[in-house]
Amino acid sequence: MRQVTRTPAPSEIAEEWRSRATRSGLARVMRASQPADLAAETTARTIQLVTTFLRSLGEVDSALEIGCGMGRLTSSIAGQARAVTAIDMTPRMLDLARDNCAHLSTVDFMLAKVQRLPWKDKRFDVAVCVWVLMHILDDDEISAACQAIAAAARHLVLVEYEEADIPVGRFSALRNLGDYLDLLPGARLIERHELRYGGDRSFAALIALDGSR
Ligand SMILES: C[S@@+](CC[C@H](N)C(=O)[O-])C[C@H]1O[C@@H](n2cnc3c(N)ncnc32)[C@H](O)[C@@H]1O
Repeated sequence: MRQVTRTPAPSEIAEEWRSRATRSGLARVMRASQPADLAAETTARTIQLVTTFLRSLGEVDSALEIGCGMGRLTSSIAGQARAVTAIDMTPRMLDLARDNCAHLSTVDFMLAKVQRLPWKDKRFDVAVCVWVLMHILDDDEISAACQAIAAAARHLVLVEYEEADIPVGRFSALRNLGDYLDLLPGARLIERHELRYGGDRSFAALIALDGSR
């Protein structure tokens, strides 16, 4: 018999992230089924890709990290930007990120959903979003998220799963880079790379958001 899986409601997704935040180490934000050394290696590669993209933009005054989680990447982003605003929708993830970045005076943390960013007129030089949009399942919500990002930033560093050998769970959706470029108003691809992680393949892309205003 075919198994019918129901798309989780927003409240279930929020609860899932609250629960993942109580795990230990990188398993809070990466697959708990993968070995710790692979998670650490993949994190190092992700940092290398993100920082290379940020460096290629020259001087970065303001960066917005979307879905910062436990702050796995935040200090590396702070190393490439004068000021960083890091948002996440899960309070416990933000507490962990604040602790991880306690030594940094240039990072502000804020509880917010990417679909409903709190700024009307502010535009960041760049937004960085790693493994977050794949967890927005609803079509209207992913459209709202992409429109909010295009209005809030001039560039986007985006890393999302494109293919997975291990089936993605019910809290993730596989979309390809082309899908995201279609969803982001005014998007223009500058550069893309691949990021592999235990049978999964993500794209890592630098995108200009030229025409959104
Ligand atoms: C897989 S983790 C990735 C965290 C971080 N970007 C990293 O790579 O380590 C996803 C994070 O996104 C957050 N998140 C999920 N949906 C979100 C949304 N709609 N708005 C803001 N944060 C969200 C979760 O709370 C979680 O901390």
